[in-house]
Amino acid sequence: SKSIKLAILGLGTVGTGVVNLINDNLDELKRRSGRDIVITEVGTRRQRDDIDPNIIQNSDLMAAAASDNVDIVIELIGGTTLAKDVIMHAIKNGKHVVTANKALLAEHGNEIFAFAEAHNVHVAYEAAVAGGIPIIKVMREALAANRIEWLAGIINGTGNFIMTEMRDKGRPFADVLTEAQELGYAEADPTFDVEGIDAAHKLALLASIAFGIPLQFDKVYCEGITGITLQDVNYAEELGYRIKHLGFAVRRESDGSGDAGIELRVHPTLIPQNALLANVNGVKNAVLVNSHPLGQTLYCGDGAGAGATASAVMADVMDLVRVLGSIDSNNESTNGHHVPHLAFIPE
Ligand code: HSE
Repeated sequence: SKSIKLAILGLGTVGTGVVNLINDNLDELKRRSGRDIVITEVGTRRQRDDIDPNIIQNSDLMAAAASDNVDIVIELIGGTTLAKDVIMHAIKNGKHVVTANKALLAEHGNEIFAFAEAHNVHVAYEAAVAGGIPIIKVMREALAANRIEWLAGIINGTGNFIMTEMRDKGRPFADVLTEAQELGYAEADPTFDVEGIDAAHKLALLASIAFGIPLQFDKVYCEGITGITLQDVNYAEELGYRIKHLGFAVRRESDGSGDAGIELRVHPTLIPQNALLANVNGVKNAVLVNSHPLGQTLYCGDGAGAGATASAVMADVMDLVRVLGSIDSNNESTNGHHVPHLAFIPE
């Protein structure tokens, strides 16, 4: 059967994690998709000698994104400049895109998704929110028929790791942040983690799918954990509470003044120690969703790190392989046919 050719652009923590996952699980990936999965190109600034010599190492990321030898472009460059150009270029050249780039999508997703729809390709981003937890697929698929009333979540692994280590071991904030960077949890600019910006990006993405609204990152109230001291953490514990950095998306009913809408906020929150979210520790993330008629459901797992994020990236690749496979087997080209997006496209 036809092989699926991947370009992995960016070989940082996540890119390397994806290469390793493919090496480790190749037989499994092939058996479960019925296709050969091949990395044909990696985009990297400097040559790496630990990469299979059959893989082209391309320092020209735009060229790699448009290569005839590529079906799916995996963007793991990060940032909102070059990554955006590369994704738009890939779309224009008919490539499906998988990305973990929450900053880019939160800020430019409306434009990127519209561009992808116009070009009949998918942009999939499971890895952009909550690392390995399949929360995008849950929102889009499993809860598709529910009315989401609210969701509350721990959606920054670095921040949760810091808060956990401060509480359990009395470690200073700065020390734990350094360790989170060494473990590959933190953003290239860790301000994004500790100032709540990364959580706000993810909340905007979740809310867009959950409520069927356009992305509105600029509407998220955003407060981080930089103001939290060891004393705050300890006092909270003494009082039977715990401080967690949470993101909330809440449906607000109209009060008649016409001001109904979705409330979006991220900030440190005091929650009772016996609450489920109070017991999600370390780099784990968790998202609690209240929806009708299902009621409350909780999704929990590692929210950052190479393995967890690579798992989500490759879940999207496997999803795409399924879509591509079914298009092939019907002997239809995607040209002129509507390809349902893997993600909600705001009108
Ligand atoms: N820096 C992010 C975090 C990575 O700590 O959650 C996963 O998105």
